[in-house]
Amino acid sequence: MSRDELYGGLGFNEFSSKSFLTETLPRLNVNAGARVLDLGCGTGPGSCFLAALGYRVHGIDVIPDAIDKAREIAAERGLDIKYDVMDVCHLPHEGKPYELIIDGYCSQGIVTDKDRAAMFSGVKARLASHGYLLMSCSVFEQHRETPETQVVDEATGKVFTAFDGNDLWDGDTETCYNRFYVDPLRPGAGPEDFDGTILVNGVWFIHRRRYRTPENLRTELKSHGFTVLEQSGEVMENAICTHQGYGEPQSLDHEMGEIRCIQANTAGSEQSTKCSSAGVR
Ligand SMILES: C[S@@+](CC[C@H](N)C(=O)[O-])C[C@H]1O[C@@H](n2cnc3c(N)ncnc32)[C@H](O)[C@@H]1O
Repeated sequence: MSRDELYGGLGFNEFSSKSFLTETLPRLNVNAGARVLDLGCGTGPGSCFLAALGYRVHGIDVIPDAIDKAREIAAERGLDIKYDVMDVCHLPHEGKPYELIIDGYCSQGIVTDKDRAAMFSGVKARLASHGYLLMSCSVFEQHRETPETQVVDEATGKVFTAFDGNDLWDGDTETCYNRFYVDPLRPGAGPEDFDGTILVNGVWFIHRRRYRTPENLRTELKSHGFTVLEQSGEVMENAICTHQGYGEPQSLDHEMGEIRCIQANTAGSEQSTKCSSAGVR
């Protein structure tokens, strides 16, 4: 498989959060040369993009093979990027701060409240007082909840939403479950041996993602001490955040005070509204 095929046919240079970064970076008060942490960098498309713009990039990922590949690609491109195998839930709290912390579809894979709290705590500890967290993550679009997509577990009466073929979404916790298959690396282990497995109508599922609604994502970020300056994207998948713990929040090129939500429609036009945070379900 070619490298471009690995990236859904888009190609290594066309990673999912590229347009968000391209539009956002010129609006921020962050100079080239600033320190950037790329959470869950994978093989490094975002890290390479940022390093080519002159940022000093540190990419981390929990998969050693991804980091090996990322190092190889950076070397091929003559880019000086520091890569480490590291779990975003175990970021060292001590160390030089980063002016930018990038989440390119990594945090959506951090499922439990405990792990998410650990991740946000590390991000907070390492985000510079004048820095930004730029988040891109899949969100749950509420129009998917219809009578046709409802799945009721006969044993418990609990209701799920079916989506993307075999997946289930639990609206109470905003957790996505995939069908459970035996792990080839642990052939003797059954579903009861894994955390986050559930039985629904006789079929085992395992938790894989946290797809929040945009509103609940804002509330979660706020509960961890972040200020969401702006949410944007076709389904509000992008967020620009600062951390409240360090003096005055940074501003963007618009009036601060209320969060601005910019939703692009498929025709390319944008609708801008002021949004509030509601309680997490
Ligand atoms: C959807 S990929 C995105 C990769 C890259 N950021 C991009 O934009 O193409 C999510 C990445 O997060 C990494 N990841 C998942 N959980 C992680 C964790 N706990 N710590 C570090 N990386 C993690 C995965 O290994 C994967 O490379």
